[in-house]
Formats: sequence, structure tokens, C-alpha cells
Amino acid sequence: MSNYSEEYSFSSFSKLPFYKKINKRLLDLAKIENQKSIVDLGCGTGLITKLILKKIKKDANDCIVYAVDHSSNALKTASEEIGEKKQATVKFIHSEVQNLKEVLKDKVEAVIYCNSIHYVPDKLSLIKQIKNQLKSDGIFVFNTSFFEGSHPPETHKFYRKWMIRSLRVLKTEYGLSPDKSAKVESRKQLTPEEYISILENAGFNVVVKDIQRIEVPKDGYHHISGFSDWIEGILPGVPLDKGCDVLQKSLKDVWDDMKLSSVPRLWLSISAVKKN
Ligand SMILES: C[S@@+](CC[C@H](N)C(=O)[O-])C[C@H]1O[C@@H](n2cnc3c(N)ncnc32)[C@H](O)[C@@H]1O
Repeated sequence: MSNYSEEYSFSSFSKLPFYKKINKRLLDLAKIENQKSIVDLGCGTGLITKLILKKIKKDANDCIVYAVDHSSNALKTASEEIGEKKQATVKFIHSEVQNLKEVLKDKVEAVIYCNSIHYVPDKLSLIKQIKNQLKSDGIFVFNTSFFEGSHPPETHKFYRKWMIRSLRVLKTEYGLSPDKSAKVESRKQLTPEEYISILENAGFNVVVKDIQRIEVPKDGYHHISGFSDWIEGILPGVPLDKGCDVLQKSLKDVWDDMKLSSVPRLWLSISAVKKN
């Protein structure tokens, strides 16, 4: 980890080649090279912002990207990584995505929401706000690997073994157990059809619904185990350094025991256009 703000951030996971590939594809669905005003919602440490900047035209001085996140550490890393060398204006906005209409004064042509929509409990209300922030014919794309059905049944055994091993190591090495009262509010995972129905109710026409099976390598599970939101979700109340250590060690053991080369996961990507 290169600096404090990157500790327990999403940064190392987001740099894995398979993750970049999934999100490049989402930007293609948004026809990003044609857009001049874009929101990168839940931008995290800036991977998607950087991919957007690469795709828009070299001389696109009239383009603006609004990168929104509620984590000041993530925004700090994103702004350090993006730096000054960019052809478009990037405005970092420190906010809950649920406050989009208060923090975004101008209407935009595209809203990109990568791997974060599952965090928001009231998706209809957020998607209505997104619609109101879009210009006529504006496009909204999102992806998520946390939806009902995203874990193929044959992977359940891996997750179960990883969890059991992690709890055992946490107890034996640190004398700790997760604190159930600190559990993050469980979020109902929606089916792809429920997402589509919410989009239609909010005033969108769905253009593409795509479900891809992604073979996630060991690195993916290793790096995600260093991300605070993941550690807090699986081992609530456990200090991040200990949680990360336990999850990464147990992953290695289970991976070797089960002789795995990858563990698949389904990724849902949707693009939708604002109804006029
Ligand atoms: C899994 S990361 C994805 C980051 C980035 N989109 C990417 O794909 O590299 C999720 C991000 O959403 C942010 N986030 C979660 N809930 C949020 C909310 N209610 N408002 C703003 N940001 C939120 C987290 O801080 C985190 O940076």
C-alpha cells in the first residue's frame, strides 16, 4: 500500500486486469466517447474516472467529469492518481450519492455507476434523482456483482469453507469473534428483473441487460479482503488489520485445499436511456 489513504481502500482490487475489463465494457455501453458531461457515481479511488478520461477524445477540453463518493480517503487517492495531467475537467464531489440533486447543479449526458448500486437501500429514489439529473436522451449505466443470483451454486461451498476457516483463525489467533450488533444493515439483493422494473418505474427505457460469468482469480479475493467495506460486511466489529489478515490467510488455505484456479461470479450490467 503506497500511502495511508490507500489502506483498506478498493484501489488494489480495482487495478486487477479482469476488473478493468468488465468496466471498460460498461463504458462502451454508455458510448462514453460521445459524452461531454459525465457523472462517475461512487467513484472510489478513481479507476473508472481514469478509464473515462482515457476514452474521451484527446482534445476534449470541453468535457467535464463529476466524480462523487462519500469516502474522503477514496477521493484523496483518486485526485492524487489522476493529478493535473488530464484533458477534461474533473470535479471531485464529497457526498452521499443519495444527495445527488443537492450537489450537482448542472444536468449531464451520462451517469456511470460501477459496482456500488447495491450499497443503496432505496434504489427507486436514487434512480429517480439520476433521471432528473440527465439531459434529454441521457444515458445511465451500472454494473454490480451483488445481485440475487450473482453467486453460482457451485461456489457456495468455497464461501462457506472460507467463512468457517476465517472465524476459527480469528478466534484462535486473536481471541475475537465478529460483533453481531455491529453488523452493517443487510441490503436486500435485487434480481435483474427487479432492477429493470425499478428503472422503468423511474422513467428509463432499458437498452441492454447483460449477465457475464467472470472467473475471479485468487488475487481478486485476496485484494477484496483488504477493502474496509468487505471486511466490515463479513467480520463486523473486527479491527480492519486483524480482519484483513484472517481473511487473506484463510483464503490461501481454502484455495489450496480445494485446488481452485478461479471462483466464478456473475456480473450484471445494464444500460438505460431517459424516457422523454
Ligand atoms: C466497491 S467501490 C467501487 C468504486 C468504483 N466505482 C470502482 O468501481 O472502482 C464502492 C464505492 O462506493 C462508495 N459508496 C458506497 N456507498 C456510498 C454512498 N451512499 N454515497 C457515496 N459513495 C458511496 C464507497 O465509498 C466506495 O468508494
